[in-house]
Amino acid sequence: MSVPARVPVVIIGGGPAGLLLARLLQLAGVESVVLERQTRAHVMSRVRAGVLEWGTVEVLRSASVGDRMDREGFVHDGVSLSFADRLLHVDFAGLTGRSIMVYGQTEVTKDLYAALDEAGVVVVDRAADVLPHDVAGDAPFVTFVDADGAAHRIDCAYVAGCDGFHGVSRTVIPSAVARTYERVYPFGWLGILSETPPVNDELIYAHSARGFALCSMRHALLSRYYVQCPLDDALDAWPDDRFWSELRARLPTEAAARLVTGPSIEKSLTPLRSFVAEPLRFGRLFLAGDAGHVVPPTGAKGLNLAVSDIHYLAAALIDALSGGSTTGLDEYSDRALARVWKAVRFSWWLTRLMHRFPDQEPFDLKIQEAELSYLAGSPAAQQSFAENYVGLGF
Ligand code: FAD
Ligand code: PHB
Repeated sequence: MSVPARVPVVIIGGGPAGLLLARLLQLAGVESVVLERQTRAHVMSRVRAGVLEWGTVEVLRSASVGDRMDREGFVHDGVSLSFADRLLHVDFAGLTGRSIMVYGQTEVTKDLYAALDEAGVVVVDRAADVLPHDVAGDAPFVTFVDADGAAHRIDCAYVAGCDGFHGVSRTVIPSAVARTYERVYPFGWLGILSETPPVNDELIYAHSARGFALCSMRHALLSRYYVQCPLDDALDAWPDDRFWSELRARLPTEAAARLVTGPSIEKSLTPLRSFVAEPLRFGRLFLAGDAGHVVPPTGAKGLNLAVSDIHYLAAALIDALSGGSTTGLDEYSDRALARVWKAVRFSWWLTRLMHRFPDQEPFDLKIQEAELSYLAGSPAAQQSFAENYVGLGF
């Protein structure tokens, strides 16, 4: 594969944000190169998000990468919250007229790779030492070293930093320019994937005396479950038997009785954090997705925010590169952040509502219980939950 010396847009990071941007640019006839640090097999094996907002579904369809999603994904009309040994079903379709799609991030990534390969877009994997230069000026460029050790320089008009929370893009923004806001939660989620039928036909978010649990799925014979656990727990401390008994103990009796267990085929621990960097632009560098903001997975918002950022950014780049108007680029950060902060708030609220905090006092628990009981009794409260979960407008 040959790496061009100049393209309009260099995209750093081949996660969902970077791949979707490359796809939307390609459909508009704008050339880009994606530089990804990992191997393709590694990127495709990361088990992460499972829930797509309807806006995300529509963006993927508009990028002509929605066919398999529409065939193999599952439309869910609601989710359930469990607490005090009961199950509260929140009817998204009835309350908002919208639904969600259960379709794994791994599958979205595969579909994007397939479309980019077919269109001949250059995606460089195992790109090391990727570094954007001179993004504050008019002639930025990006350097990297390929898997054979050869050094490259790509000149460009714009750089898209889509390289996730641990990427390099955000670090080139001077600290005098960037403001960051952060909340680190004192627990993590231990997640497993198992080839068992899901315990419920829709997701269950469980509040319990032993901590939070989540029952999700990928398809009829593939379940995804999570339990809240201490941040410093090692994976070894969680053999499958312990995981299953802990999960069962956190579910309402009736759901616990239906739980089918089996060997885990993947197990991982995720720390929970809220983080936002402002602004999402420095000169000709634009941050999108987890590179600019992170939410705890409780609200299922991370991938969806990456998609809404890219929806704005792609249109703005296409405008600037083909029509010559830079208004969209000038407004990108404010537009994206306005949506991001609402999802940060929702994810923080749901995290605080559903988890046991180590320093939680009896008063805090009573407030959680009162809020859950209010939610159960108030169509207005359920509507607010539902409209945030299915996704606010773009
Ligand atoms: P990433 O997916 O992190 O991609 C960034 C890419 O950049 C990676 O491939 C990385 O290898 C590459 N990279 C990093 N550094 C460099 C570098 N220096 N040079 C080149 N490449 C680099 N979101 C939801 O919407 N719904 C959910 O249900 C949900 N569930 C989740 C469950 C879990 C357990 C986790 C961990 C996350 C979940 N998320 C969910 C969040 C979602 O997975 C992320 O928000 C999403 O992956 C963000 O996409 P991205 O492309 O911005 O970043
Ligand atoms: C998942 O299926 O992995 C999933 C679903 C909902 C969440 C987080 C993760 O809130």
